[in-house]
Amino acid sequence: MTAHQAIHRLDYTAPAFLIDRVDLTFELDETDTRVSSRLVIKKNKGLQSNTPLILAGEALQLESIKLDGAPLPASAYQRDDATLTIPDMPDEAILEIVTRINPASNTALSGLYASNGNLFTQCEAEGFRRISYYLDRPDVMAKFTTTLIADKQKYPVLLSNGNRVGSGQMDRGRHWVKWVDPFRKPSYLFALVAGKLVAQCDTHVTGSGRSVAIEVYVEPGNLDKCAHAVAAAKKAMQWDEERFGLEYDLDTYMIVATSDFNMGAMENKGLNIFNTKYVLARPDTATDADFDGIDSVVAHEYFHNWTGNRVTCRDWFQLSLKEGLTVYRDQEFSSDIGSRAVQRIQNVRALREYQFAEDAGPQAHPVRPDEYQEINNFYTWTVYEKGSEVVRMYATLLGREGFRRGMDLYFKRHDGQAVTCDDFRAAMADANHADLDQFALWYSQAGTPHLDIASHWDDAAQRFTLTVRQSVPPTPGQAEKLPMHIPLAVALIDRRGQTLPLHLADESCATDGAAGAHHRVLELREAEHRFTFVNLPCHPVPSLLRDFSAPVTLAYPYSDDELVFLMAHDDDAFARWEAANSYAVRLLCQQYAAVLRGEKVVVPEQFCEAFRALLENTALDPALVALMLDLPRENYLLEQLDDVDPVKLAQTCQSVRQQLARSLRPQLWLRYQQLNDGQPYHYSGEQVARRSLKNICLDYLAELDESMIGELLAQQYRKADNMTDRLAALRALVNRDGGEAQLADFAGTWAADALVMDKWFALQATSRRPGTLTRVQTLLGHPAFSIRNPNKVRSLINAFCLQNPAHFHAADGYGYAFAADRIIELDAINPQIAARLATCFNRWTKVDTHRRVLMRTELERIAAHPDLSGDTNEIISKALAA
Ligand code: TRP
Ligand code: ZN
Repeated sequence: MTAHQAIHRLDYTAPAFLIDRVDLTFELDETDTRVSSRLVIKKNKGLQSNTPLILAGEALQLESIKLDGAPLPASAYQRDDATLTIPDMPDEAILEIVTRINPASNTALSGLYASNGNLFTQCEAEGFRRISYYLDRPDVMAKFTTTLIADKQKYPVLLSNGNRVGSGQMDRGRHWVKWVDPFRKPSYLFALVAGKLVAQCDTHVTGSGRSVAIEVYVEPGNLDKCAHAVAAAKKAMQWDEERFGLEYDLDTYMIVATSDFNMGAMENKGLNIFNTKYVLARPDTATDADFDGIDSVVAHEYFHNWTGNRVTCRDWFQLSLKEGLTVYRDQEFSSDIGSRAVQRIQNVRALREYQFAEDAGPQAHPVRPDEYQEINNFYTWTVYEKGSEVVRMYATLLGREGFRRGMDLYFKRHDGQAVTCDDFRAAMADANHADLDQFALWYSQAGTPHLDIASHWDDAAQRFTLTVRQSVPPTPGQAEKLPMHIPLAVALIDRRGQTLPLHLADESCATDGAAGAHHRVLELREAEHRFTFVNLPCHPVPSLLRDFSAPVTLAYPYSDDELVFLMAHDDDAFARWEAANSYAVRLLCQQYAAVLRGEKVVVPEQFCEAFRALLENTALDPALVALMLDLPRENYLLEQLDDVDPVKLAQTCQSVRQQLARSLRPQLWLRYQQLNDGQPYHYSGEQVARRSLKNICLDYLAELDESMIGELLAQQYRKADNMTDRLAALRALVNRDGGEAQLADFAGTWAADALVMDKWFALQATSRRPGTLTRVQTLLGHPAFSIRNPNKVRSLINAFCLQNPAHFHAADGYGYAFAADRIIELDAINPQIAARLATCFNRWTKVDTHRRVLMRTELERIAAHPDLSGDTNEIISKALAA
């Protein structure tokens, strides 16, 4: 095995050389592309002289090097498989380097690669070094000019960053296009695209009256699936002007879709490259969730133009500077164009299912990590989603206007620079004269803080006291933790369900909301606080961590009655949902314990009654009802337990669902019929909400062993005029009796649509039915499957290993062996994708001893594999150290 080395945040040093200008010429060819690079390099003033120039370069064939016009003799530079070093570099020079690369053989999809006959680049984080020798680090910002030369038949469209300044015909059927990007940028934001593509175009007129062309490029057959992405881009442009005063800065904003992509999308300057999953959608091919995902990702990449591109990261440890902030911005955008409550609950649910698990496991790391072996492994739930919660807490502590002041100062100070998370925090603090020193711990301490809250009611004095203790669990490399600065939003609710005015005995600890407000943010800074609320008319029920004011876990000894009360009365949508969620988690964990004792699952009548009241509450947003009825995921429950038998846990969940379905049959049926109103499909907030509740009802009804229900499912599958309803019916059918007829029908209809086939693979990979692993293994050989395509791998393999705990954790260990085989197979093809899959072994210490042994054995088998990539090695070795 190769030795893998860690890079440390504190080892950062400024670059010894800077690059002022880059002129790139690409002679594009699928198997042999020639890259000529002309770099204007100069020594970074003020730094010590005599430092060698060390350029990064990987998998490059070097053709020539010239220094100031003269060929550089071989004795004047050294090369290894990652660098090119010139020891005697003048203070200022022009370096011309010609390299050759083979896009067709690039299965890692980093650098320049081929996809369906077209060529794309992916340079974040360190892909540019697979294109040309360069100072491939984000604090080296240069002006780029790119000339693309290619066969005109094969590659009629030639795109790069910035503005198109010229084009022309050449010999041998070739043509050229020249692009100039007027903004300095790091190499990770470089992009080029070449191929047979068509564009849907639109324009946006900015607040200052400039006209911006929006162009969404796709393969020719897909032009009828771009409208939603174009509309999303326009909405995002409008929103960023209104909310943050930020306008687009080039004449053209381009999005190009490719079906071979390691992640969701990439914010390259002026030329965003997207996974087709986040561009292509039509009501018959995409679900409501897909449309929503397109809005989020288009907005996210567009927003990066300011938070990421205009102001970028000094080094990759600062990744959350751009990602946490941009996720916060895209979440706010989605909240403003849709339902804020639904958006918040969905985001929190994902954070708790995935990020909390990451933070409690062997890959736990701070939002700003201290070390990494492979930066690609740090595009994580922690850096993105916890990072966005950290940004949200500034807004909670400083208020919306205060946050805006901080953003304005951040851009005023840092436009055009490569900066750190500390610079962002300083802008927030300075713009508001706030003390955010302790807040820095959110960037440096890993692990999910825990709040333990107790209350005391003093009937004689009419006072209610909350005692709040905080603690942060130990994580790998961080045994001891300090108390953090945590905003805790609270309200107190009286017996009629009204929030009470809040007066604190000591007013110094609260922010946001003066004495007497009905909702206040308490600032925790110590390990323990006591908050006494005075002048209360009665013993209240506390509503805690409203709107999920901080990414923490919380324990408060609510009775079942109090949870039911909050489910019915809390005026904060998140807290109301949370009451239902806590009640369900409590029930499922109790019933799981009963199953372990060999007892039968019994859902108490009080629980059924609470769900019945939800179903009958037609005044409440149907989307909220749907979210409250949706039981916690098995993966989330697994985190709440120890020594888990995931198969028994899945059986418990299934029994609870069945009992609820039996008990609530009339209400489920009625609500389903009311919502199944035959309206033609339209993607609107109201319709999405109604469909979500309708399909939750359908899901519960599918648990009933009645032929009538089988017919209902078959009918919804057949009659649906949209993918949301069709897929919901198909999923229920697959889980219920296999749905073979409909699966065959579906594949017959959609064989040529890769994204729809992804859904078909994922449904089968996440099936609850026996024989799912065998099915998945067979599907590896399906003509629509390819192990080289990340979307296919995610739909079939990751869905099984990460989304189907009952089958992945089968007691015979075959699920684990399957995962290990695929990780090893993928590692030779695409290390980023292999490493992502390898996280399915993260929680091996959570399961029972028998399974722990099996999982550890597979981890060791992977670790022992010769030539394992640094990506996969990092994940596996950390898992083994748990
Ligand atoms: N910066 C991209 C985003 O958040 C993430 C990304 C896209 C990426 N492709 C990648 C990161 C490949 C690493 C490797 O939108
Ligand atoms: Zn991003």
